[in-house]
Amino acid sequence: MTAIRAHGSYDAHDITLSEAITGRRSVRNFDPDTHITRDELVGMLDEASRAPSSVNMQPWRFLVVESDEARKKLLPLMRLNKRQTRDASDLIVVFGDLECYRKAERIYGQAAQRGIIPTLMAKAQLAAIVPAYRKFTRDKMTRVVHIDSSLMAMQLMLVAREHGYDTNPIGGFDEDRIAETFGIDPNRYVPVIIIAIGKARKPGHESYRLPANELIWWNDVNALESGTEEQQEKGRLS
Ligand SMILES: Cc1cc2nc3c(=O)[nH]c(=O)nc-3n(C[C@H](O)[C@H](O)[C@H](O)COP(=O)(O)O)c2cc1C
Repeated sequence: MTAIRAHGSYDAHDITLSEAITGRRSVRNFDPDTHITRDELVGMLDEASRAPSSVNMQPWRFLVVESDEARKKLLPLMRLNKRQTRDASDLIVVFGDLECYRKAERIYGQAAQRGIIPTLMAKAQLAAIVPAYRKFTRDKMTRVVHIDSSLMAMQLMLVAREHGYDTNPIGGFDEDRIAETFGIDPNRYVPVIIIAIGKARKPGHESYRLPANELIWWNDVNALESGTEEQQEKGRLS
């Protein structure tokens, strides 16, 4: 197994999952000469889309900003983050589809057709899921698509590592204007996160993580055997 060298210079497909996770850094300085092909990008998105989602509704949608023109539109919407917008190979704006249930029949129909689930089960699940999803408030559905799309986005950042690329998750952009700016229906699609992807020109810096041990409530905080005394105090972690 080859150890990870500097970011963006390791061999693609040559790292373990653990290396992909521990070696990932948010990169803010990308090599402007790196261009990922559409085929490779679609392949990475397909892989990342193996992420779990609530009732497998896969509400993530992607706006890929690659051309100079599209970057020019995106730049004024970025708070800071301008350098990544100029230099990353692509900026993937992840949207959540608030009407994702419109693809339910396709998803469950395909699953039945491919023998993954029995047809009767597919029908029963559709009959239960679609009306329930339609009844969700905008607020509730926004939360659902944010969770699902964030899981996908995390996978994308790890898949990118396996392909030899670096990423920067970006939340600092004008959420209220991004859909309309690119002709996307803002009533239906909510922006979740932008993933800048490319090869690092400068490695990302290390960052500290709180030890998980400090962040855990074991079982019920009221139970005597749960956690430390400090942790139990008013249900607060120190
Ligand atoms: C939801 C979210 C939004 C973020 N927004 C930005 C951003 O706007 N600009 C930026 O440079 N980094 C952004 N980051 C990256 C974080 O600063 C970074 O993940 C954190 O400092 C830990 O560093 P690491 O990713 O290198 O481990 C964001 C990360 C997340 C998860």
